[in-house]
Amino acid sequence: MSAEREPIGVIGVGWVGLVTAACFAELGHEVWARDIVAEKVESLSRGEVPIHEPGLAELVMENAERLHFTTDMTEALKHARLLFVCVDTPPTYSGDADLSRVEAVLGELGDSTDHALVMKSTVPVGTGRSIQRRRPGTGYVSNPEFLQEGSALKDFMNPDRVVVGADESSQPFAERVAALYAPLDAPVVKTDVASAEMVKLASNAFLATKISFINEIANVSEDLGADVSEVARGMGLDDRIGPKFLQAGIGYGGSCFPKDVQALKQLAGNTGYHFQLLTAVIEVNELQKRRTIGKLQKHLGPLVGKEVALLGLAFKPNTDDIREATSLVLSGRLQGEGANVRVYDPVAGQRVEGLLGGARICASALEAVDGADAVVLVTEWPEFGELDWAGEVKRRMREPLVVDGRNFLDRDALIQAGFTYEGIGR
Ligand code: UDX
Repeated sequence: MSAEREPIGVIGVGWVGLVTAACFAELGHEVWARDIVAEKVESLSRGEVPIHEPGLAELVMENAERLHFTTDMTEALKHARLLFVCVDTPPTYSGDADLSRVEAVLGELGDSTDHALVMKSTVPVGTGRSIQRRRPGTGYVSNPEFLQEGSALKDFMNPDRVVVGADESSQPFAERVAALYAPLDAPVVKTDVASAEMVKLASNAFLATKISFINEIANVSEDLGADVSEVARGMGLDDRIGPKFLQAGIGYGGSCFPKDVQALKQLAGNTGYHFQLLTAVIEVNELQKRRTIGKLQKHLGPLVGKEVALLGLAFKPNTDDIREATSLVLSGRLQGEGANVRVYDPVAGQRVEGLLGGARICASALEAVDGADAVVLVTEWPEFGELDWAGEVKRRMREPLVVDGRNFLDRDALIQAGFTYEGIGR
């Protein structure tokens, strides 16, 4: 068997698992993708992809011959030696990661020494070592994912780096994992398991820190008369800083940043170390979501009975994911202030049914802005930039007030059209 044609098991076919399975199939490997949810497996076997990720449905279809979806773990174990673990590790109430699904996979693996777990799920630093201590015969490789929703296929196929962590006994498995990524021509960081686990958490925590940092610069800029977009442009050209993740806004959300920052802080806390910086990163992010309320009150006074339209629900564009989305917090806070909230998102509308209290879910942006006293742009979906703001939108609104939570709209054009415009840090 050549290294380029290694049969692969993917355990857990959520967003990470499906992207991983489809991309390895695209690279020419036979993939056995196993999930415990029978309906999901059935629909995937029919070629129906239940996840909104650009290009994914097409990739699954094109590679249908090499993609075998199953609920049967023994199928995956029979065909593949490398088992990419892509199960959920959600936070518990204490902020620690819930590893029960990882444990369930271990249970199903039995005492096989032929197989290796290749951990893609984000786990606390130390997880791999503790698994290996309990099960010295089981191969274990840490191979964290760095995929961004909305560009996951591109991220998988053109990674900045591939991280492969393994201890001495699992080196042969680690070599096989690294070989799978050879066609991608990316630097491979071969390291120990704990360091690989830390690379993942530290990377996300660093990016979240960068966002909270620029958000604080934005908040200070508002009072000092600077424009954070200009500041970010000037900072980003410094090679040591770089232009990415310097976009000020109404806070980061999603399935990774909030969870991973919290997890790293908690992990440090468990060792007796108070990670002060991350405590501040989390607090700044929470306050950032709420600052919008103050901006609305500045212009509208008390919000009781005011009609507020939220454009965008997803935590960022090109996804229907609403996990930890700022829209959810904002909608709750606005209703708490007595406002009537209407919301629109091009794809995430159905996802929020039942989650937004009394908020009205609209079928279009124009329906949402109709009769509104204010519009808050929450997610920078391209279609919001293409709305006829000066004409149709302004005509429909009761008060022409826009809070642009992503500094996405054409500020000058809106002001010229008679809008009151509030951005972030400008
Ligand atoms: C992130 C990491 O980027 C990825 O490597 C990891 O595997 C999973 O978590 P993702 O959650 O898909 O990916 O989203 P990302 O594009 O990183 O954005 C996260 C949040 O930060 C979004 O809410 C986004 O709006 C916000 N953000 C991002 C900013 O507010 N400003 C920025 O400059 C960048």
